[in-house]
Amino acid sequence: MKIVITGGAGFIGSNTASYYLSRKADVVVFDNLVRRGTDKNLSWLKSLGGNLTFVRGDITDVKDMGKLIPFFSNADAVIHLAAQVAVTTSVTDPRTDFEINALGTFNALEAMRASESKAKFIYSSTNKVYGGMDDIKVVERKNRYAYASLPYGASELQPLDFHSPYGCSKGAADQYVHDYGRIYDLDTVVLRQSCIYGPRQFGVEDQGWVAWFIIATALGKKLTIYGDGKQVRDLLYVEDLVRAYDMAIHAGENTRGKIYNIGGGNDNTLSVWTEFGPLLEKLFKKKLQVSFRDWRPGDQKIFVADIRKAKKEFGWFPRTTVPEGVSKLFYWVTANKHLFG
Ligand SMILES: NC(=O)c1ccc[n+]([C@@H]2O[C@H](COP(=O)([O-])OP(=O)(O)OC[C@H]3O[C@@H](n4cnc5c(N)ncnc54)[C@H](O)[C@@H]3O)[C@@H](O)[C@H]2O)c1
Repeated sequence: MKIVITGGAGFIGSNTASYYLSRKADVVVFDNLVRRGTDKNLSWLKSLGGNLTFVRGDITDVKDMGKLIPFFSNADAVIHLAAQVAVTTSVTDPRTDFEINALGTFNALEAMRASESKAKFIYSSTNKVYGGMDDIKVVERKNRYAYASLPYGASELQPLDFHSPYGCSKGAADQYVHDYGRIYDLDTVVLRQSCIYGPRQFGVEDQGWVAWFIIATALGKKLTIYGDGKQVRDLLYVEDLVRAYDMAIHAGENTRGKIYNIGGGNDNTLSVWTEFGPLLEKLFKKKLQVSFRDWRPGDQKIFVADIRKAKKEFGWFPRTTVPEGVSKLFYWVTANKHLFG
């Protein structure tokens, strides 16, 4: 099997690359190594052995994308992950965010077209395309927020409502990918991902909060909670996401041109501090001090994805529970503290 992964030295990308290397696939990683930790992820991938090709390039640069055309033309799957990933950065530098996420995805699609590729093209979209979901009633419980009447969470039928430059650039790309499937007959699948967490995630305060809380605590740094800490998210362990990519690829025509929510779903949710705090204190075996600040603009009280469509159409569902996944991430971070210096 031949797999091309843009953003392949990032958190999700390196986990995806290692999965396919372990299955003896030919793996091409394309990345400009802009994200902190990507050099370490790449060295780790190289250490695994297997047929890995690294192409250094910038997704916003048409010439660099040209380097990928020969790889696209005979790939079985292209997994497009390269992105600017922080909402906060998108607000301070919307042009760069637009160029990487919207124009970069457009460049990847054009390279697919130019190569006449028959590969499955997987796009890692985001639940942020659903925006604030202001019309959905939320109730406050003792330790967490809950939807008043969405027992399975928000489905793919939730109206699109892009918030923040990141929401707009990822949302524009989500729609471009979907439409290139229709207009140019590319074999595309859009996966709208919830919070993903796991090893090789160099989380920072602005992005990757599950990893960030663990890394910060391991390094003795202060934690700040924006809002009341009762915000709820569905969490998906990275191995389960990689399995979703693989199953969507192997489902062939069943997933062609489709859009799916891929997250932890209703069975795998966690509140940001009221529930995560006690879990962390148990793992670190100590009481943790945090400071509270105002809500971040646009922060939802709850987002939980309804993931039943993916189960129905290609048999995927998450296997790793939140306590299992969080403790695996905890052990990885504490065993690899030197990587975060
Ligand atoms: N992690 C999550 O919780 C989450 C949730 C929803 C969607 N996503 C999406 O999944 C994808 C992967 O996210 P991640 O968490 O692994 O982030 P990451 O930052 O670890 O990975 C992104 C990769 O893209 C590379 N990159 C950035 N700009 C580039 C450019 N101009 N050219 C080439 N490479 C470039 C970075 O160096 C990095 O390796 C992104 O598209 C992101 O929007 C992630």
